[in-house]
Amino acid sequence: MSRVLFDAALDAVRDFHANMPAVAGFQAWPNDITWADRDGHALPVVQLVQSDPGRPAADDAEAGQTRRLQQAIMALAPYVEWRLTYTEEEVGADFLQRFGWFELVGPDGHFHSTQTRMTVGYWGRGLYYPWHEHEPEELYCVVSGEGVFEVDGEPTQKLGAGQTRLHKTFQRHALTTEEQPILCFVVWRGDGLADDPRMSS
Ligand SMILES: [Fe+2]
Repeated sequence: MSRVLFDAALDAVRDFHANMPAVAGFQAWPNDITWADRDGHALPVVQLVQSDPGRPAADDAEAGQTRRLQQAIMALAPYVEWRLTYTEEEVGADFLQRFGWFELVGPDGHFHSTQTRMTVGYWGRGLYYPWHEHEPEELYCVVSGEGVFEVDGEPTQKLGAGQTRLHKTFQRHALTTEEQPILCFVVWRGDGLADDPRMSS
């Protein structure tokens, strides 16, 4: 059953990519995708993704793209390999209870590709994701909810469903959620796709 949900999520991501110019312009759709048959790994975040995914887009054009992706992610949430990456020392115990991410497409994804890394991340309400960085360029797409995006050298922006934010190679960034959680679809391109982000010193 879950394979059907994975395929549905990949279809939703493919359509989202095709219909969102910012996403399609950032990274071509990979032509090397194969099913990797990875095991799932549930975390407390599954329940939050399904019960509190955050406010959907208000604008009809954006909602048409983000709502289907949000629904596909919520349905798939119990079956994916959720990861935390960070330690309690880095982000605190509460953060680890209400955060998680998984790799749908990529070098270590449920669907294998060496051309890109497409992940989904969720942060509960009132969390601070400290300054961090990584080599690949990154496009954040808010699927639902909202968050305050801080990026080194650029204005801070509060972004909601349907909006995007670009992070350049090794450009430090941080994310804060306030009264809304945030569900994001994130695309990487360039070198270092299999690396983890690292906290900035
Ligand atoms: Fe990042």
